Amino acid sequence: MEGASTNLCYNLLDRNVRNGLGDQIAYYWEGNHPDDYSRGLTYRKLLEEVCRFANVLKDHGIRKGDRVSIYMPMILELPIAMLACARIGAVHSIVFAGFSPDSLAERMFDCKAKLLITADGAWRGEKALYLKALCDTALEKVEEMGHSVEKCIVVSHLKRVTPCQPDHVEEEIPWTDDRDYWWHEEMEDKEPACYPEWMDAEDPLFMLYTSGSTGKPKGVLHTTAGYLLYAATTFKIVFDYKPGDIYWCTADVGWITGHTYVVYGPLANGATSVIFEGTPFFPGNDRYWSVIDKYKVTQFYTAPTAIRALMKFGEGPVLKHNLSGLKVLGSVGEPINPEAWLWYYKHIGKEQCSIVDTFWQTETGGHVITPLPGATPMKPGSASFPFFGVKPTLLDECGIEIKGEGEGYLVFSQPWPGMMRTLYNNHERFEDTYFSKFPGFYCTGDGARRDADGYLWITGRVDDMLNVSGHLMSTAEVESVLTEHPRVAESAVVSRPHPVKGECLYCFITPNENEVFDQKLISDLKKMVRERIGPFAMPDVIQNAPGLPKTRSGKIMRRVLRKIAVNDRNVGDTSTLADEQIVEQLFANRPVEA
Ligand code: WT7
Repeated sequence: MEGASTNLCYNLLDRNVRNGLGDQIAYYWEGNHPDDYSRGLTYRKLLEEVCRFANVLKDHGIRKGDRVSIYMPMILELPIAMLACARIGAVHSIVFAGFSPDSLAERMFDCKAKLLITADGAWRGEKALYLKALCDTALEKVEEMGHSVEKCIVVSHLKRVTPCQPDHVEEEIPWTDDRDYWWHEEMEDKEPACYPEWMDAEDPLFMLYTSGSTGKPKGVLHTTAGYLLYAATTFKIVFDYKPGDIYWCTADVGWITGHTYVVYGPLANGATSVIFEGTPFFPGNDRYWSVIDKYKVTQFYTAPTAIRALMKFGEGPVLKHNLSGLKVLGSVGEPINPEAWLWYYKHIGKEQCSIVDTFWQTETGGHVITPLPGATPMKPGSASFPFFGVKPTLLDECGIEIKGEGEGYLVFSQPWPGMMRTLYNNHERFEDTYFSKFPGFYCTGDGARRDADGYLWITGRVDDMLNVSGHLMSTAEVESVLTEHPRVAESAVVSRPHPVKGECLYCFITPNENEVFDQKLISDLKKMVRERIGPFAMPDVIQNAPGLPKTRSGKIMRRVLRKIAVNDRNVGDTSTLADEQIVEQLFANRPVEA
């Protein structure tokens, strides 16, 4: 569609309002606490708010092509901020608010953000998270790195909700005059109309960072028309969305799932969605089911890790609520084990709902392998077949195609509209990461198996990446934090299966000579990972490793470490190791709690 022009925000809002959806609810907002006031925002009101905020951005000098970083909780100002960027052609770069100030700083520096949008804080269960304070640390860091983010716009959120917990807001919100601005003050005098900036089909819409197996996070860049088409079509067909349906995706907007299936896909279809700030466990383990009941949700989209965590509480919490409105249940983020699939199917869907196990990535923009509800006979744990226009191929190590039954590297042999276009400012890395292993194919980094019926089963990452509760990270990025500790000589991180999180981190640490490995070191290292990457990257096990199993050329044999992590003595051939003794020593050193 290159050469054609459009505006995404216009398509999502103005077009729907003009077609008679002005009074329809675009978003219901459900706060962390059930007694928080609920908010509903119609398409007309959403358009007005977006226009007003677009005018705020313009007044602060934001123009087409400028990058705007966003670090926000799940509040309605988040889609408003995104759509305001899209309206004026600014490129949003959202950083999930669970990331540390270091991670935020690194991302704002990489994209040379001009402005940051945040909130004073977020509510998570019993706790308030003070986001603005984290932003201040990040803004200082970017300054030290040599880039200045000029402005910061802050939503005042903590005090307007949770009538039951007003005393919990204790901290002063740190403030820097001439840089920080309150959202509500900026919005006060703004016009609720703003002419959209017409964008070329291939102009950037947003970037979103995702972990790479080596080096820094990658700024995946999505553009305008193809992404819109793909988000709109996959949403409509994969969730079988019909007028009157109420759709709820539990993903945070800070991840690609939230971009495509909380914001762009649903709004493109004039859908009504729920946005939820809280957690599945607060104030009780039935919160998800109570929200489904409250809004009469028809399509529910969540992650296997959440299903596994909720399964543990049995059927009791589910039976307290009426879930009979449900028609389609979605799963995303990691392979769903058949046990969790069946529980979801039986106890949430009452054997009446289709389950769509949607395989895709930040890079693919939208679903690429997924069942279509009601049309694809389901198999628990299989993402099944490609979406229209997607051509999956399985390749062996030598790049030879595996036809029929078999397992191999999952690659795609032709592009589709929603595919990423480049890595921000680094097209070479884009080509290298995705197209160099098998020339002529887009390489997903996942493995897959094709069964006798032609169904595809995703087997997980084939590179040194781990997926903890649906959060993708590389072993290398965790190792680089661990080895920064002055008492650590070397580290190796492997993935270990985890009953709820899917995978967890098992870390081997070689202390420096004459340094002891003690409890203090373990807690220091956990704290470092938490602070540098984010709480979700917290290692489950940290083990003392006087040495690591290395080949004579110095390569760490990770498959051996993965066996040690699960205490499986079938380590296979270790004859190429420089020192075979080390394997026995590492088994002996496993901590009791592991
Ligand atoms: C990786 C992409 C796509 C949105 C959330 C994650 C894994 C994702 C599935 C699924 C098996 C899955 C893959 C993929 N993954 N969905 N249905 N079955 N694996 O986006 O952070 O870019 O992660 O998540 O390993 O490569 P992401």
